[in-house]
Amino acid sequence: MRALILVGGYGTRLRPLTLSRPKPLVEFANKPMLFHQIEALVQINVTEVILAVSYRAEEMEKELCEKAEKLGVTLIFSHESQPLGTAGPLALAREILSSDDSPFFVLNSDIICDFPFKQLLQFHKNHGKEGTIVVTKVEEPSKYGVVVCNDDGKINSFIEKPVEFVSNKINAGMYIFNPSILKRIDLRPMSIEKEVFPAMAKQCQLYAMELEGYWMDVGQPKDFLTGMGMYLDSLKQKTPEKLYNGPGVVGNVLIDSTAIIGKDCRIGPNVTIGPGVTLSDGCCVKRTTILKDAIIKEHSWLDKCIIGWKSVVGRWVRMENTTVLGEDVIVKDELYINGGQVLPHKSIAASVTEPQIIM
Ligand code: GDD
Ligand code: MG
Repeated sequence: MRALILVGGYGTRLRPLTLSRPKPLVEFANKPMLFHQIEALVQINVTEVILAVSYRAEEMEKELCEKAEKLGVTLIFSHESQPLGTAGPLALAREILSSDDSPFFVLNSDIICDFPFKQLLQFHKNHGKEGTIVVTKVEEPSKYGVVVCNDDGKINSFIEKPVEFVSNKINAGMYIFNPSILKRIDLRPMSIEKEVFPAMAKQCQLYAMELEGYWMDVGQPKDFLTGMGMYLDSLKQKTPEKLYNGPGVVGNVLIDSTAIIGKDCRIGPNVTIGPGVTLSDGCCVKRTTILKDAIIKEHSWLDKCIIGWKSVVGRWVRMENTTVLGEDVIVKDELYINGGQVLPHKSIAASVTEPQIIM
């Protein structure tokens, strides 16, 4: 089986992290976002994954090819010379996707859940129509594509980012299609959500399968941290041995084995600490992701932060409220940062008391 992953967006909402690394390679729970998806696809015997890339393709190719080899999956890079949106990339890969009659998966690259690919394939075969999308319920549907469907899953309408409330069932960004969908798609910038799904729904060719369990679009910092908490919770249910179990741990915590953890730290709940990180003595860290090679000095206190690669946080620093440090940021001792988004390579020498972007 085949899958196509849409990895071409600019990832602007995940800045400053995406100023250093393309969004699909930003580590979510110590693993690039895209690897979570590719691993789940490999598990259901997908052997060919097309990566629809439009920007920073070289960076992705190098890192991803190594990983693919280990997993025994063929990666095909489909390069767009201009961003083709969420449908155009399917037309660009037309030849591969229509080389036989078998259905193929399509995924947004920034979503995290217990990927239900096996059930999706079965559900799709059972109704026999052109496409199936996975849907999930959320409290704030206006940020997503919204679906109105019957009890059997038949979609009556699909509205991308509706202004008025129509339903709380949203497009979870995972699809399976028969190759016949390609007749609807042109080789031009085209939105699958706005230009393809509404027509398919009208012709009764689009079904919805409801997702069980957690789901999150982790393409922005706040949701990234919420999604991380959900992911750790699910890890705890399935493979609790993967979670860290040292002194001072509260709740679910994932720590790479190469990280150095000081004495008398209080870590958790919902913390991931990447490879090569140093967390010095007496630190307190909650609801936070610390990326590779960052250093947190003694007695600092972090809540709801993402600490970028190689950043250094001084002693007795307090950071909170979805503070995101880009790559290689330095925060001097004893500062308070409230909701700061700090661009890569900056050095911060004064407190930031109100949420803001620091350039
Ligand atoms: N190759 C390629 N080319 N990929 C693209 C392009 C492009 O021009 N533009 C966006 N993408 C990719 C993004 O990288 C992402 O994986 C996916 O398409 C969706 O784009 P987002 O920018 O993340 O869209 P969204 O989050 O606002 O909305 C989408 O996802 C929601 C679920 O998270 C829509 O599909 C909504 O309907 C859906 O509810
Ligand atoms: Mg998104």
